[in-house]
Amino acid sequence: MAHKRFALVTGIAGFIGSHVTEYLCERGYFVVGIDNFNNYYSPLIKKRNAQEIFSSYGSDVKIYEGDIRDRMFIREILSSHDFDAIFHLAAMPGVRASIEEPELYYDINLRGTLILLDEIARFNSNFKRKCPKFIFASTSSVYGKTTIIPFREDDTCSTPLAPYPATKRSAELLGYTYSYIHRIPFLAIRFFTVYGPRNRPDMMAYKLMESIYHGKEIPLYNGGAMYRDWTYVEDIALGVVAALDATFEYEIVNLGRGEPILLLDFVQTVESLTGKKAYLKHTEAPPSDMVRTFADTRKASKLLNYRPKTPLKEGIEALVRWYENSLLANS
Ligand SMILES: NC(=O)c1ccc[n+]([C@@H]2O[C@H](COP(=O)([O-])OP(=O)(O)OC[C@H]3O[C@@H](n4cnc5c(N)ncnc54)[C@H](O)[C@@H]3O)[C@@H](O)[C@H]2O)c1
Repeated sequence: MAHKRFALVTGIAGFIGSHVTEYLCERGYFVVGIDNFNNYYSPLIKKRNAQEIFSSYGSDVKIYEGDIRDRMFIREILSSHDFDAIFHLAAMPGVRASIEEPELYYDINLRGTLILLDEIARFNSNFKRKCPKFIFASTSSVYGKTTIIPFREDDTCSTPLAPYPATKRSAELLGYTYSYIHRIPFLAIRFFTVYGPRNRPDMMAYKLMESIYHGKEIPLYNGGAMYRDWTYVEDIALGVVAALDATFEYEIVNLGRGEPILLLDFVQTVESLTGKKAYLKHTEAPPSDMVRTFADTRKASKLLNYRPKTPLKEGIEALVRWYENSLLANS
């Protein structure tokens, strides 16, 4: 019988982590997951995501409730299996929310990442095992005020506009240090506005659903005159899992579509596909919001053989179907 291969996913019960886990299981991996089910948004949503993973892949997944900042807990998990890869997706993820709670963002996104890297380094030197790859979920928002468009990975990214991207950029740099000193293969993947089934409720795509189906008023920044490189969650998950096949010591790579869409067009596409109007309040964009995000995807296509497949209309249809079937049906 072939040996089972093991992957660790932090933030497994979240939006992207749950999809990444399903793709890992499809590839024959046994996935060990960590999540602290925090209340950044309802823990019930995260429990439901975890339940959905179990219902399809129950025998190939084990989830531990715990915090990445708990060294002893991490030590135990690392000694439980011989991991090929660690997909580190656990984080505090909101740009605007990070302005209100900068210490918490620093603590989880930077110190939490440090603890994971440090425990992996300690474990490898003690047990002389093959070092697992470390795949870190970074963000397009590290590009901040850049004038290099489309965004390229060799940009210095020294102008983050909020504590959230500052912590993510700092963690990328920390990753370099650990790859240099401890030979941990480190890949930072910068995600560009991910949307789709299990969408995070604090993001525009989900808020639009709430507005359309429940008449909730939501802000539309700058009359929708900002561009986002919306990327469907399954394309993202496939790109992340492709890191298993890539060879790297330290790399940073963009995962977007490379086709920025005007926010107003995104809203109008949702409205025309649902046949309903969103209830929008025109509001000035906060200074932490970038005017546009736009991925140069050439490196991803070389390093990860990444080819995003899902056109916007198809992605929005899947988002709407998911919202109607799993959220409206149960409300
Ligand atoms: N969704 C996007 O568009 C997007 C864009 C760029 C980057 N990212 C990054 O991708 C990753 C996943 O994002 P998401 O949208 O799925 O967010 P999410 O909030 O749905 O998932 C993150 C998960 O991590 C868990 N978590 C948080 N702190 C933890 C801790 N200390 N210990 C253990 N678990 C903890 C949360 O409970 C949550 O389930 C994050 O690192 C985020 O910063 C997301």
